[in-house]
Amino acid sequence: MCAAESHADKIHAGKILVLDFGSQYTQLIARRIRESQVYSEIHPCDAPISFIRDFKPKGIILSGSPASVYDNKPPYCPPEILDLGVPILGICYGMQWITHQLDGRVSKSARREYGRAELVIDDATDLLNGVGDALTAQGSRPETVVWMSHGDRIDRMPPGFDVLAHTANSPIAAMRNEKRRLYAIQFHPEVAHTPQGLAILKNFLYRICGCAPTWTMKAYLERAVEQIRERVGDVDVICAMSGGVDSAVAAILTHRAIGDQLTCIFVDNGLLRNQEAERVTETFRKLFKLNLRYVDASKNFLKKLKGVTDPERKRRIIGRQFIQVFEEQAKNMGRPEFLVQGTLYPDVIESVSFKGPSATIKTHHNVGGLPTRMRFKLVEPLRELFKDEVRRLGEEMGLPEEILWRHPFPGPGLAVRIIGEVTRKRLDLLREADDIVEQEIRKADLYPQIWQAFAVLLPIKTVGVMGDERTYEHVMAIRAVHSQDGMTADWVKLPHEVLERISNRIVNEVRGINRVVYDVSSKPPSTIEWE
Ligand code: XMP
Repeated sequence: MCAAESHADKIHAGKILVLDFGSQYTQLIARRIRESQVYSEIHPCDAPISFIRDFKPKGIILSGSPASVYDNKPPYCPPEILDLGVPILGICYGMQWITHQLDGRVSKSARREYGRAELVIDDATDLLNGVGDALTAQGSRPETVVWMSHGDRIDRMPPGFDVLAHTANSPIAAMRNEKRRLYAIQFHPEVAHTPQGLAILKNFLYRICGCAPTWTMKAYLERAVEQIRERVGDVDVICAMSGGVDSAVAAILTHRAIGDQLTCIFVDNGLLRNQEAERVTETFRKLFKLNLRYVDASKNFLKKLKGVTDPERKRRIIGRQFIQVFEEQAKNMGRPEFLVQGTLYPDVIESVSFKGPSATIKTHHNVGGLPTRMRFKLVEPLRELFKDEVRRLGEEMGLPEEILWRHPFPGPGLAVRIIGEVTRKRLDLLREADDIVEQEIRKADLYPQIWQAFAVLLPIKTVGVMGDERTYEHVMAIRAVHSQDGMTADWVKLPHEVLERISNRIVNEVRGINRVVYDVSSKPPSTIEWE
């Protein structure tokens, strides 16, 4: 057995399999388990039983689902999982599936139960041990708040089960078959609205499945370094750095493993934020002694974008141009064999997702588009990690907070925040305004709570008055959103004083702007970027 495998065994020891019935919270379940320092993977609910056996889980969690067991074709698991002798926790639909499968009765409840509920704990010996944080009004039973979201409910438990907890609307809100090690709950322990949810999951992991806390970023780091060394040997490796957190962490990790065998390429496409190129090159060259090539390709990008106003054409041109620059660089390095990619676990899950493919809303450009054309072998050291884990790994390696917590920035950069043609002059205007937005959001201590905050330059001119003069200048829009993953988003209710400062500074400091508007649309139906 090689060294990397022995580490792998250690940190993956006691792993949990999450079978996905299509719930919007499935990723959250896996993240909570990992927060508890236990490794977990998500797979579609209909994964073959042979795969599940080979996976050797210490425990299995069945997710929720928008479906009902009475649907025409309800999502299902191989029923043999119930006889593996491995502890199972069914959540919401997972509970209903177990009940249906084992001859209990599921029925439509008279009222949909959605939101907060008081869970009264009837048996606190294992799954619900120590989670009651108050006593019921009668003072007889412990209770805790949980978050429900279900239409169907359990009317009759399957034989051999007993009740662990109930709520006003769900007489069987948690149940157990101790002999068969089957557990099920109607509420969602994975969401923040269930304050004791993590404690309940930990009970399942530690008390019931016998897992140990082996999944830490320190252990992950040691193992990843060994694995990269083994995979790469003594050949050269190349990495496209964008300055974003994923490519930065992937590069630093690879650098730890193979030092100067790694060359990073940072392409300045002229579409970056204020001082971005300087900041990135400074940090990675000085702080981490990374072999970093800075390529100023801005002239070329802007030439290709001349006269282009269609958002999808802009995206395609930028993507193509990026590959061309990268190919040229790789060629004059003597064609390195490996490419480092910052692929994350959610991208991996997406490709085996239980849900069908969705329509293309925007052609995303990121460095992920490179290998198909260039036939590199890949080093993907973050393939097992969620974004929050990537940040923790970055912290472990001493990456500055400024890089780890920087707001996401799209591959096509400021080009998709200039509505209409991209010119150097417009880029300068936008960059200045964008910088003001960031400064003011930081001054108000709001930066870490916000997913993204930025400016968008609109192609219209409006009339204004400055001094006693009439002006006829451009409009700048401000966008700030809260989001978990960029898939959905809500606009941020920024304090009026912050908006006022941003607006004042932009019209006073950015020549050519005489009006500022605030974008109050959520996603859906809007998207986060304007193009
Ligand atoms: P939208 O505009 O689709 O954006 O709501 C969702 C999130 O994705 C970012 N974004 C991109 N990221 N390449 C990227 O790497 C792209 O082409 C791209 N387009 C949008 C956007 O900033 C937001 O965080």
